[in-house]
Amino acid sequence: MTKCVLYLFACVAVATAHVCMISPPQRGSMLGINKMGAVDCMLVAGPCGKRAVGPAVALTGGQNFTVTFQKNLDHWVKATPGYFSIMWGLETMPLKELVRIPDMGQPSLSLFSVNVTIPTDKPGKGYILQTQYMTNNPKAPPTFYQCGDIIVM
Ligand SMILES: *[C@@H]1O[C@H](CO)[C@@H](O)[C@H](O)[C@H]1NC(C)=O
Ligand SMILES: *[C@@H]1O[C@H](CO)[C@@H](O)[C@H](O)[C@H]1NC(C)=O
Repeated sequence: MTKCVLYLFACVAVATAHVCMISPPQRGSMLGINKMGAVDCMLVAGPCGKRAVGPAVALTGGQNFTVTFQKNLDHWVKATPGYFSIMWGLETMPLKELVRIPDMGQPSLSLFSVNVTIPTDKPGKGYILQTQYMTNNPKAPPTFYQCGDIIVM
């Protein structure tokens, strides 16, 4: 029985990896993010996991903003460590990488905070701050996505 459970857990652990974004708030919900494998943190379709636009956070070009995300399920492999990218732009256009954080094998549910400077773009709606979890793990989906909606003032 114990073996069975362990085996199942191993299967789940290698088949999935997750990232949640806390600030700006991710699209969809944050229900259950204190547990590994939260449904709202397992989005594999770019750029925003097919989630509908949510309430937007108002930011100004040139301001500093702290992005906080959670590695909901660890997917680090020693041979080919992955990374997290914080991306910026209009959802409909190619995004720009603001910062890249290496995945150093922190445990599942670890929080990461990183300061970014918001680019000075044309004011308006439709911008996103996006977190990508690039797993670089051959046994996992290549990328997990989260988006938070932004209006540039
Ligand atoms: C944003 O942060 C950078 C790096 O810490 C700092 O040099 C800059 O003055 C800050 N900008 C604003 C508008 O606070
Ligand atoms: C981010 O900026 C805040 C406010 O300036 C500062 O208190 C904090 O130490 C910075 N965090 C990092 C990781 O640089």
